[in-house]
Amino acid sequence: MKILDGKYLSNVIKEEIKESVDVRLSSGMKKPHLAAILVGDDGASLTYIGSKVKSCKQVGFESTLIRLENTISENNLLTEIKKLNENKNIDGYIVQLPLPKHINEEKILLMVDPHKDVDGFHPTNFGRMVLELPSFIPATPFGIMEILKRYDIQTSGKNCLVIGRSNIVGRPISVLMSQKSSYGNATVTVAHSRTENIKELSLKADIIISALGIPEFIKENMVKQGVVVIDVGITRVVDKTNSKGYVIKGDVDFKNVSKKASYITPVPGGVGPMTIAMLLKNTLLACEIKD
Ligand code: GUN
Repeated sequence: MKILDGKYLSNVIKEEIKESVDVRLSSGMKKPHLAAILVGDDGASLTYIGSKVKSCKQVGFESTLIRLENTISENNLLTEIKKLNENKNIDGYIVQLPLPKHINEEKILLMVDPHKDVDGFHPTNFGRMVLELPSFIPATPFGIMEILKRYDIQTSGKNCLVIGRSNIVGRPISVLMSQKSSYGNATVTVAHSRTENIKELSLKADIIISALGIPEFIKENMVKQGVVVIDVGITRVVDKTNSKGYVIKGDVDFKNVSKKASYITPVPGGVGPMTIAMLLKNTLLACEIKD
């Protein structure tokens, strides 16, 4: 069994990005600039955004965090987005999800300039990705593809089970795994909350990508020997013995499933850090395209 070390890999990628930034700066070009909008004060979102801002510093990017009240109206949020679209100094930006219930997420994401949409959530980018045209690829699926590529895991013709159909992970990764390219070409099955025979499907899978959000849902008796496991779950589980009062759990019973897996991502330290590295990569790309 080999650990797919996303933390290590993300540092390698960040180092590569930093080198590109240094080359830009020595040729008199500007620093890439990533902005993020955070509405409200959800604990998990604050943690993610904090990591994103910290990572920008690490690679020499400029970053701007725009914090808005939970009660902001949809119109005022749209105005903030228009300002970011018009701000020539900002190369890319994200609107951290989820948004408060009174705001229509679709309407907000549609307002983001596709050229600055480093999350790849705008229908233009999503559609281009499906058509295998150049686009911004959502950071988490992009990170998963990068793990497969850098560990040279063969996917062509393999049975890949994706668990979850969210627009952020499940849907895009199912598209990427089936696309006509190296580290794609898999035979993809998408399981979701209405799937009835998940164990039957998981036992046939050569690769399992789980983005379900149920801690330790995938047990040893649900996977075959030699399976490749990518665990995207990050659920906070109450743990009074921990100083934070919680621990982060993945979708996979790591201790037992890892005994049968050929490769497996840990949680934390697997897909999570890769998401941030790939967001930075998209921002660098957005900046380079503008030059
Ligand atoms: N919420 C959970 N994951 C993501 C992500 O990748 N991007 C944004 N904007 N919000 C998220």
